[in-house]
Amino acid sequence: AAAEKGGHDYFMLKEIEEQPTAIADTLRGHLVEGRIVLDEQRLTDQDLRDVDKVFVVACGTAYHSGLLAKYAIEHWTRIPVEIELASEFRYRDPVLDRSTLVVAISQSGETADTLEALRHAKEQKARVLAICNTNGAQIPRESDAVIYTHAGPEIGVAATKTFTAQVAANYLIGLALAQARGTKYPDEVVREYEALEAIPAAVAEVLESLGEARALGQELAPSKAVLFLGRHVGYPVALEGALKLKELAYMHAEAFAAGELKHGPIALIEDGLPVVVVMPSPKGRAVLHSKLLSNIQEIKARGARTVVLAETGDETVRPFADHLFELPAVPTLLQPLVATIPLQVIAAEIARARGYDVDKPRNLAKSVTVE
Ligand code: G6P
Repeated sequence: AAAEKGGHDYFMLKEIEEQPTAIADTLRGHLVEGRIVLDEQRLTDQDLRDVDKVFVVACGTAYHSGLLAKYAIEHWTRIPVEIELASEFRYRDPVLDRSTLVVAISQSGETADTLEALRHAKEQKARVLAICNTNGAQIPRESDAVIYTHAGPEIGVAATKTFTAQVAANYLIGLALAQARGTKYPDEVVREYEALEAIPAAVAEVLESLGEARALGQELAPSKAVLFLGRHVGYPVALEGALKLKELAYMHAEAFAAGELKHGPIALIEDGLPVVVVMPSPKGRAVLHSKLLSNIQEIKARGARTVVLAETGDETVRPFADHLFELPAVPTLLQPLVATIPLQVIAAEIARARGYDVDKPRNLAKSVTVE
């Protein structure tokens, strides 16, 4: 069994380390002669051009990847995007028609709520596009188009490499829509794709300091709770970091959009409470960076133990960071692909330090095929 785990203590660590390959394999082959192509395409270019609204539906970690799709697709295409938990979407009366594109994201391709959400969408004549890690699973079979994530089989119940692969796939959909609608010039689409192609190397760089994240996990293991703060694309990263901690370490963990801090969460801050903050790049939108910086100062002043993920060379955060993780500089929209990695490792290490089975957390299943 040790050999299967590639010499690691648990599969999840091996799968975390496979992320550069998972992302690269997911992107590969999707730029052909300067154009983005999907895997299975039963939609015409005209169908894609006609899309005037996108719904993204998913559960769990796949839902967090879908939150990022909203930022990317709206930014690149100006098409309104709604992201919704599949289990909510399917029991509402969502407003759909044949020019709506529903993106169903599912690692297994078998999650009951996501499958039913997709059927609900099809009944209303919407086009459906699946992102799936399992060839020929039910969700891609019932979809009009598919992008497969090529993360390989994932043994750990908590999703890691399939999450980052899903984010990459979401961004490919955003680029395919931008291309079809002409909201980006062909050379801009190629440039965005190339920026994505550079991500596996950046992830590999983050993995070099994995030891640091493991050590921090050990230190944080006795904590009662951990809070996560993020803004813009850092918010879904915070949500995913908190979910990993709940799943693996059975720890109370909650994520907040940093702008909501003053609307409640700040009351939770007490001496020594670990708070993980995802800092945006100082080279991106200055307002995002300065807002987060003042959020860190506010929580630090109230005694929080701050764990800060920030771009290498961002010295502004250093005075307020009890622990500083440096991330390689990448474009703002792509930062989640690097920022999520240390959070996965921290959660796994806290679980291990607490003596839990990292690969098989209690009460959870790899795919939830019952409702
Ligand atoms: C379960 C798994 C999660 C996963 C979720 C959605 O809860 O434990 O890791 O994110 O299902 O699964 P799917 O296969 O649809 O992506």
